[in-house]
Amino acid sequence: MKLLEAPSIRASALKKKITDRTAVVGVVGIGYVGLPLAVEKAKVGFDVIGYDRNPIRVDQLNQGLNYIRDVRDEELTDMVESRKLRATTDFSSLASCDCIVICVPTPLTLNKEPDISYIRAVAKEIAKTLRAGQLVSLESTTYPGTTQEVLLPLLSESGLKIGEDFFLSFSPERVDPGNARYTTKNTSKVVGGVTDACLDVATTFYQQTIASVYPVSSPKVAEMTKVFENTFRAVNIALVNEMTLLCDRLGISVWDVLDAASTKPFGIMRFDPGPGVGGHCIPLDPFYLAWKAREYDMNVRFIELAGEINWTMPYFVREKVMRALNERGESIKGSDLFMLGVAYKKDIEDWRESPALKVMELLRKDGARINYYDPHVPSFTDEHGEMWHSIPLSREVMERASAVIILTDHSVIDYKKVVDCARLVIDTRNATKGVRADRQNVVML
Ligand SMILES: NC(=O)c1ccc[n+]([C@@H]2O[C@H](COP(=O)([O-])OP(=O)(O)OC[C@H]3O[C@@H](n4cnc5c(N)ncnc54)[C@H](O)[C@@H]3O)[C@@H](O)[C@H]2O)c1
Repeated sequence: MKLLEAPSIRASALKKKITDRTAVVGVVGIGYVGLPLAVEKAKVGFDVIGYDRNPIRVDQLNQGLNYIRDVRDEELTDMVESRKLRATTDFSSLASCDCIVICVPTPLTLNKEPDISYIRAVAKEIAKTLRAGQLVSLESTTYPGTTQEVLLPLLSESGLKIGEDFFLSFSPERVDPGNARYTTKNTSKVVGGVTDACLDVATTFYQQTIASVYPVSSPKVAEMTKVFENTFRAVNIALVNEMTLLCDRLGISVWDVLDAASTKPFGIMRFDPGPGVGGHCIPLDPFYLAWKAREYDMNVRFIELAGEINWTMPYFVREKVMRALNERGESIKGSDLFMLGVAYKKDIEDWRESPALKVMELLRKDGARINYYDPHVPSFTDEHGEMWHSIPLSREVMERASAVIILTDHSVIDYKKVVDCARLVIDTRNATKGVRADRQNVVML
């Protein structure tokens, strides 16, 4: 039987500061995950300091200027004006924080291996001023083991004792950008602590702002939970994408199949195909797990296979465009292609890892002239450093294009008008499903 640890005096003192909201909260990395978290903590009365090495974000926050859609403008302004929330690039004040949450990026290297250099860099900053009575909680998505194998040794170099002097936890962020129903506040949160005291303090911390907190037995379980959730999505999207490739060969509509399959009330869950996967999670996180699995002599084949299929999709879109133009006696070379949407999913402004960029690159290499419209992405820089600008969506632009290619199904676009104006529409998202009549010019994925 596991012996319960004696309650740490420091843990009790920190919990008290947390429950009476006198604890100072530091959020390191104030992006898509960090900013909503910082605002939620400030709203319930904590003093919150955002730390970021990007001075532009820091200035914007300090001026109360919002840059993340999921955060309400007025809430951010209120918190900044009431001095509950501020930001800095100077990490020396981290010692003043009682609870420090890490929300920095976890990308992949060019070879698709985990790049946890951001986590390491932040851990080293925190370690410089770590003091007794602090909670450090990692929220960045990562492979199972990061908290105990990477963070804990770096923080322990201070000489402070885990579970007695300082507390360490992992709690994955599950934010779904653009989802109005499930936000940071009402999405349940999994927490794993390095020791019982760590779990106790971390659970108390998250309970202040989140309706349902689910404690698990270790940070590793919490880390694994997050990568499993994202792998589940990646694999199911890949499955439906592969069915799309097959339906294309069979000459049937995958969308009809999905609509029919969705009438089954049990044993099935709908995932929609598309031009590929994007964002900071689905294309990346499963590879954190695949990399870790190799350390244990395992190849997680579902992940590799899902990645392979999902990466195929931009090439399939290119093939669809080529075939559709060919039908009209035209070629991609010299064509004028107009992309609708570059964000990786509908109604958001995030274009990181967006498959739209890959489609654009492929078609441009084939000799097409490419322009795009995205109501949420006025401009972006591609991986070659070239800056692209959205051009207004007008009747003339659509009429002039050899084809309009729908890559993101943003809600504000009038798809009936698109189908009316364009000579040819390639719809990779079923965005035109509401247009029932006169759609001979529409080619579905
Ligand atoms: N965006 C999502 O939908 C989402 C959802 C769940 C989990 N996550 C995970 O959360 C983590 C953060 O993702 P994000 O989308 O918020 O990223 P982001 O790029 O929007 O924000 C990260 C911020 O960290 C800052 N930063 C980088 N290095 C830093 C350092 N050394 N010190 C301080 N600040 C630093 C960056 O300037 C940036 O502002 C990732 O691990 C991601 O996988 C993201």
